[in-house]
Amino acid sequence: MFKHLQEKWGVSTRQFWIIFIIFGLTGTTTALLTRYITAWLGMDATTHWVWKVLLQVSILLFGYQCILLTYAALLGQWAFFWKYEKKLCRKLGIIRSERRDISGKLFIDDRMHQKSKIKNQKLVEERQTPNSKPQTKKIAIFASGAGSNAEKIIEHLAHHSSLQVALIICNKTGAGVLSIAEKHHIPSLLINKETFFGGDAYVGVLKEYGIDFIVLAGFLWKIPGTLINAYPGKIINIHPALLPKYGGKGMYGMRVHESVIAAGEKESGITIHYVNEHFDEGEPIFQASCAVDEYDTPDSLAQKIHALEHAHFPQVIEKLILSAG
Ligand code: GRF
Repeated sequence: MFKHLQEKWGVSTRQFWIIFIIFGLTGTTTALLTRYITAWLGMDATTHWVWKVLLQVSILLFGYQCILLTYAALLGQWAFFWKYEKKLCRKLGIIRSERRDISGKLFIDDRMHQKSKIKNQKLVEERQTPNSKPQTKKIAIFASGAGSNAEKIIEHLAHHSSLQVALIICNKTGAGVLSIAEKHHIPSLLINKETFFGGDAYVGVLKEYGIDFIVLAGFLWKIPGTLINAYPGKIINIHPALLPKYGGKGMYGMRVHESVIAAGEKESGITIHYVNEHFDEGEPIFQASCAVDEYDTPDSLAQKIHALEHAHFPQVIEKLILSAG
């Protein structure tokens, strides 16, 4: 259950436990505070229940959130909890969903989206004029986890003359990759299932951003035919095992490493492959392996695999796009 939560939040094990401690501290502090305020206001068994409920609701609505953010700031987890608060507000309808335009500015409703579309179009056109790097290939990274691979790719291509990470697509509010996009001033887009599977799969938006190539780096949704047809041979994925073994539906994250260890494999690795409409079945492009030794745990194996991914994925992407012309 913990692993599932950790993957859902897209955080490291250390960060996961700090977050857990923050929730614990906040709960305890809120309970103590409620007791203190109740006594201070002179409330006891004779007080009408309505007053007690009102007090508890106000403490939960405001006090709890403030204490949570205070602990978050003190323990260095402000970014995670600020996003958590925003998500909560969005769920309660206090604020609206956010998206970012091509220049990284936030826009919050469809009217602004329309304006932003026009602005993005202009920026795309400007970038395609003969004077401004006409051959630059633009990459969209689809990721929904911590985003360590996305960051390595961004850093590797940061000063590249003809390749540019132009957009991060994510389906999880609060995912680490969104902070990485922000840190590197790359526009990010939070997507929803309805448009992805039932609409145009964001092909319109990708074209609007001038995207030439799509890289999946920890993106768990299956890629729909609409998107594959719009980018034939231009979508690749990285899988944390030596495919065809340990791939397919449900084989992601720690589940892969747990299965590899449970099977007593002596070797694991990474596979970079083209994406088709079936999970992990597209044509392989590159594999690299590492030893699995008897003392390896799913965690230690995950670290080895991440190191392999960081060492090879950015270079493979660079070579592949440049050789495709
Ligand atoms: C990587 O292990 C990759 O193989 C898999 O998802 C993981 C993403 O990790 N597809 P990160 O978010 O890049 O750290």
